[in-house]
Amino acid sequence: MCGIIGIASAKPVVSNIINSLKKLEYRGYDSAGIATFSDNCIDEAKCEGRVDRLEKLCSKKYLQGTVGIGHVRWATHGIPNQINAHPHSNEIVSVVHNGIIENSTILKKILEKKGYKFKSQTDTEVITILLSENLKKNTLVEAVQKTLEKLHGSYALGILFKDSPDLIVGARRGSPLAVGYGDNENYLGSDSYALKSMTNKITYLDDGEICILKKDHTEFYNSKGKKINKKILILSEDKNNYDKGDFKTFMQKEIFEQPNTAKSCINEYLDSLRDEINIYNFPWDLQKINSITLVGCGTAYHACMIAKYWLEELTSLDVIIEIASEFRYKKNKFKKNNLYIFVSQSGETADTFAALELCNTNKMKTLSVVNVIESSIARNSNFILPIHCGAEIGVASTKAFTGQMLVLYILTLKIAFLKKDIAKKDYEGKIKLLKKIPDLIKKTLSTESELESIASVFANAKGSMFLGRGLAYPVAMEGALKLKELCYVHAEGYPAGEMKHGPLALIEEGIPVVVIAPRDKYYEKTMSNMQEVISRGAKVLLISNKSKDEISSDNIWKKIEVENTSGELLPFLLTLPLQMLALHAAKEKGCDIDKPRNLAKSVTVE
Ligand code: F6R
Repeated sequence: MCGIIGIASAKPVVSNIINSLKKLEYRGYDSAGIATFSDNCIDEAKCEGRVDRLEKLCSKKYLQGTVGIGHVRWATHGIPNQINAHPHSNEIVSVVHNGIIENSTILKKILEKKGYKFKSQTDTEVITILLSENLKKNTLVEAVQKTLEKLHGSYALGILFKDSPDLIVGARRGSPLAVGYGDNENYLGSDSYALKSMTNKITYLDDGEICILKKDHTEFYNSKGKKINKKILILSEDKNNYDKGDFKTFMQKEIFEQPNTAKSCINEYLDSLRDEINIYNFPWDLQKINSITLVGCGTAYHACMIAKYWLEELTSLDVIIEIASEFRYKKNKFKKNNLYIFVSQSGETADTFAALELCNTNKMKTLSVVNVIESSIARNSNFILPIHCGAEIGVASTKAFTGQMLVLYILTLKIAFLKKDIAKKDYEGKIKLLKKIPDLIKKTLSTESELESIASVFANAKGSMFLGRGLAYPVAMEGALKLKELCYVHAEGYPAGEMKHGPLALIEEGIPVVVIAPRDKYYEKTMSNMQEVISRGAKVLLISNKSKDEISSDNIWKKIEVENTSGELLPFLLTLPLQMLALHAAKEKGCDIDKPRNLAKSVTVE
């Protein structure tokens, strides 16, 4: 998704802006651009495609400015091309923008009536024109404020002004924006990750705030135009995560990091000496909570689906799961004894954040399960449970999914115990078993070569299905999502028992079907559903767990057995073959594994 960088310095900034834009490439984008001052005018370079291309363009144009802004664009309004790429500049201002201006069509019409001409199809260009118009009669800060007042929707902005060539203005509403502090230079970034190679001193802007950055000075204003002081945070270092090491892709590295990331998460929450969960100081009385709503998008939503099974099985709570983009707009019954849990790797997903804000507005109890602890979702929840898996760079979520499941399972156990829904002995037994999960993940990852050898069947298929019951159903949904996003093959995750109500019609000779049938209470039923698809020609990859009983069913094309643990914990293991299957199918097909087409790591528009 779009990314912003701004640098105000004493030395030329272009190469640092390019390097920082490269750090933002993981988010997914389709064009890139940069603007600086040269010879008293705003000079830009923009292109469709990758930052490497922009780098070549900049070297030809000899951009020498010491103050500049850069952008990677993920198209929302207007196709990805050079004209629609940001920055959007005229003789007076230059603007980079993340987010969506929802009233841009109306504003454009008004401005066109006044005689302004638009070069691009973007929503952003209205900001450029509104700013230059407002600058005619106002001071710089007033002009920015007057412009922002006219905008509906979301934005993070970086702006250069021809008449103030030593500064950059930043502003945000809905989309995140951070300021970084360096030595005789200061920075603007759409996330702290992009700034990490330059500084670990960060200030996050809150909604409605504006900042002004010069090389040796920063100032902040609230939405009413009043000067304010902001806190500087010192970010922790986690350099190892930004390097692929011996792996060809970040995704593969992140899959194989899971034994360690699971261990880190477990070490954070489980007591090493006792079978106890170290989560204390909930800001609300848990005894009064009688229902839970879990909210997320994509893979994070699948983690919510799994948690619903756990919470329903182990606690007396009523549990609802919601897709954030639906929840935020429908009529909800906000109940004071309900706990709202927001699950998000990035902590910046626009829909999940908006759902959280809706709950905050209604004064609900909010808890977030996030990876990025400095994120907007983390900062705006009553309570945070981080997943501690380190930066996830591959667009397809893998180790973060495992982390989300881990934290949600740990939370389930803690709630079940505190509410006396499970006995101390069971609680401790479950914690003991959970501590073994990192080792079992490691062993299960050794099935990689088997999955690699069959991946081409999925890569070359017209479509495929992933089936499961109980906890294996959301696991199937996640497996299908991984395959479609990485390999661009249609894949459908479905409850195995539902096939006969429609989707069975899709089964034809040779279609690959993954059946996830752990040896749990659903095993026999799922095996019968598997036979229903086999007898109609499906090529079945069966994923189960090791057991002393052999799998007796006939005509199974391939079998993968993950390690054995309790039924509750099997999602941690069953997911792994599905991640590896999607990875190798995408490799087989030559897809860009870390940056699948059309997708972004941090989905900051709705
Ligand atoms: C799929 C994937 C996405 C994200 C979704 C939510 O592999 O990564 O479906 O899970 O965009 O993102 P977060 O967790 O950052 O809110």
